[in-house]
Amino acid sequence: MTSHQDLDSQKKAAALQAVEYVRDGMVVGLGTGSTAKHMVIALGEKVRAGMQLRGVPTSQETAVLARQSGITLIDTDNRWEIDVAIDGADQVDPGFNLVKGGGGALLKEKIVAGSAKLFIVLVDQTKQVPVLGGSFPLPIEVIPFGWGSTAREIEALTKSRVVLRQRNGAPFKTEAGNLIVDVHLARIDRPRDLEIALNQIPGIVETGLFVGRTDILIVGRPQGVETLHASKG
Ligand code: 5RP
Repeated sequence: MTSHQDLDSQKKAAALQAVEYVRDGMVVGLGTGSTAKHMVIALGEKVRAGMQLRGVPTSQETAVLARQSGITLIDTDNRWEIDVAIDGADQVDPGFNLVKGGGGALLKEKIVAGSAKLFIVLVDQTKQVPVLGGSFPLPIEVIPFGWGSTAREIEALTKSRVVLRQRNGAPFKTEAGNLIVDVHLARIDRPRDLEIALNQIPGIVETGLFVGRTDILIVGRPQGVETLHASKG
């Protein structure tokens, strides 16, 4: 069995590969999570070595780490042009579709990934699955108003168990002040259709399904890093 330390080394190796796509003067979307953390630290090293770049953080946690690492952050209340966004994922299927949101930052992550010219995803090999779903529930951000009713509609659509995410004995709140429900789907055979159907339900702010968004997938494996390019279109 792979130890936590081994997995962390694989995440770090993937992150070190990803930052090689960052060029001087770029605006970089900074993902959230234990894999993205390695990428932010590696970018900080590039800044210390003289590279000019600016970051768009996908969470407060990432913003704090980016500042500590010496990365200048852009004003996120204005229009931006993101050259490359780099983020982790909870699951990735053979078509490079993702489940994200384990850390609860899926809304900002999707906005940043969606507006970047290039979206690079970093995973250790345990995140690769033949079909999305199963071992990892699909996170969905919902507004607090009437969340129970929204959850019932999600249950009716997916025929799956929907659980309100908790933290420290209270409902988990996202940075936008919303809630997360985790949907325990056995398998997600048609992620695009599911994403479209979920987006019709009032009260859903965003889903953790990232369909057709990945440009480059970097997988950390015990024997080294594998870089895969998505065929889009
Ligand atoms: C946070 C995310 C993360 O990218 C995802 O949970 C992967 O995290 P980690 O790199 O810690 O495994 O989507 O909302």
